[in-house]
Amino acid sequence: MVRFVTPLLALSALSATALAATTTTCSTSSQCPEDKPCCSQYGECGTGAYCLGGCDIQSSFSIDSCAPMPVCENKSYTWDNLDNSILNTKYLGNASDADWTYSGYPKTEDGNLLMTMPKNSVGTLFANNHYIWYGKISGKIKSSRGQGVVTAFILLSDVKDEIDYEWVGADLTAVQTNYYWQGVLDWHNSGNASVADKDTFDDWHTYEIDWQPDQTQWIVDGEVKRTLLKSDTWNSTANRFQYPQTPARLQMSIWPAGLASNAQGTIDWAGGVIDWDSEDIQQKGYYYATIGQVDVECYSIPDGTVQSGNTSYVYTDAAAMVNNIAVTDNSTVLGSLGATGLDMTLGANSSSATSTGSDSVPTSNGGSGGMAGNSTGSTSGSSTDSSTSSSATSTGFSQGTDTSSKGNSAPAQGERVLRGSLFAVLVAVVVLVTQ
Ligand SMILES: *[C@@H]1O[C@H](CO)[C@@H](O)[C@H](O)[C@H]1NC(C)=O
Ligand SMILES: *[C@@H]1O[C@H](CO)[C@@H](O)[C@H](O)[C@H]1NC(C)=O
Ligand SMILES: *[C@@H]1O[C@H](CO)[C@@H](O)[C@H](O)[C@H]1NC(C)=O
Ligand SMILES: *[C@@H]1O[C@H](CO)[C@@H](O)[C@H](O)[C@H]1NC(C)=O
Ligand SMILES: *[C@@H]1O[C@H](CO)[C@@H](O)[C@H](O)[C@H]1NC(C)=O
Ligand SMILES: *[C@@H]1O[C@H](CO)[C@@H](O)[C@H](O)[C@H]1NC(C)=O
Ligand SMILES: *[C@@H]1O[C@H](CO)[C@@H](O)[C@H](O)[C@H]1NC(C)=O
Ligand SMILES: *[C@@H]1O[C@H](CO)[C@@H](O)[C@H](O)[C@H]1NC(C)=O
Repeated sequence: MVRFVTPLLALSALSATALAATTTTCSTSSQCPEDKPCCSQYGECGTGAYCLGGCDIQSSFSIDSCAPMPVCENKSYTWDNLDNSILNTKYLGNASDADWTYSGYPKTEDGNLLMTMPKNSVGTLFANNHYIWYGKISGKIKSSRGQGVVTAFILLSDVKDEIDYEWVGADLTAVQTNYYWQGVLDWHNSGNASVADKDTFDDWHTYEIDWQPDQTQWIVDGEVKRTLLKSDTWNSTANRFQYPQTPARLQMSIWPAGLASNAQGTIDWAGGVIDWDSEDIQQKGYYYATIGQVDVECYSIPDGTVQSGNTSYVYTDAAAMVNNIAVTDNSTVLGSLGATGLDMTLGANSSSATSTGSDSVPTSNGGSGGMAGNSTGSTSGSSTDSSTSSSATSTGFSQGTDTSSKGNSAPAQGERVLRGSLFAVLVAVVVLVTQ
């Protein structure tokens, strides 16, 4: 691991432009090559962590390039410490070993998890390592505050089915709800739920996602705020339900939607440009969102699912619909950062790192979820292939990299220089922080 991290430090000295040349991007119309078969959540090819959470089978070399996905686990999470969490550069797919992977600047305080965003940073991301394939997910949360600052609590599948809560720091009286099917942007999918005592920052509220095969409900403090029926998502042209239906990971993050370099539509959605000299920055040194507790209850797998085990979910067809997933006993654990779904045990017995280091851990394992901003600006900044890709509409957002010199409890995140990406917002962030 140490050997691996070192090249990252060296890389951080290089410019984004120089790195872009060495990056292989991927999309549903341009899959990864066999030697770097896994397409990360951010549309880049690699091995190792690229093949774990977020690995998109539709844009990878083949559907078995990505590692099998650890099955859902009924569990309550609290944070007296960060013992259940692992840095995203260290995780190899054993969800029994660590419940969460993270990047950024987490800390614990009074038994709560603080996801922080120090001055000029891109925030913090927590991704659960267990996939959920229908379930009830509940978070006791105090959002961040401040224009341009967004807290997200989302379910995101590897093919970018997505169910979201997002708090925009300029409006502490409401939480936004959203969903996506395979990353297809549809601005009609978003909603806005008012919150009872009208302060999402000062007061604890419980935000639930009740994700069932036939409907999804967003529930705040026990009150159903929104119901999405699967039957209402029928696309009669394509003969399919455009409803979130594939195993998804819970991702929690704080991120800077209001960076001046972001698309105007994104900044507007976030309520304006971030003030890096705000009350929170002055008093605590960072913006922050507070997580008190997270509960996950797994629902039973859909009727008719092919089941040969109890350990992992595996895609059986790149269409990635509900009937294209099997439950198996295939291992989810990679032998090293050089391994892939095509050769899971590569490097397992080797004392030296098999990975070259440069394409084995994606910049960040995260996503903010739907950018309820505006597509107009969102695609214009893309430097790579987003306009030609059928997954160009993907809603993922990388925490990116940052140049903050503030107290950093997770040094590896800032060490990774960002490379090309499908996501325009992400690209905009990179341009800012690497110049
Ligand atoms: C995963 O981690 C658990 C707990 O640390 C350990 O018992 C198990 O052997 C590991 N599994 C693999 C495949 O490495
Ligand atoms: C969300 O709802 C709140 C309260 O009803 C309202 O003030 C706010 O403007 C709405 N925000 C959006 C983005 O629609
Ligand atoms: C329905 O499917 C067709 C064919 O794939 C696609 O062109 C269209 O955009 C889809 N409609 C929506 C609302 O996604
Ligand atoms: C989770 O708990 C529910 C009941 O609360 C149970 O029906 C289900 O089988 C459990 N699932 C797993 C994966 O343990
Ligand atoms: C899954 O686990 C249950 C309970 O341990 C067991 O009874 C069942 O046989 C397993 N199913 C398969 C397909 O392995
Ligand atoms: C599970 O692993 C075996 C052995 O590697 C492989 O043949 C099989 O295709 C895998 N199952 C699925 C559903 O991918
Ligand atoms: C690793 O070593 C063990 C024990 O020597 C052996 O059984 C196993 O096959 C080896 N695995 C690989 C991937 O070389
Ligand atoms: C997106 O931009 C268009 C045109 O600029 C505007 O009409 C529309 O309301 C915007 N949608 C959102 C969700 O901001």
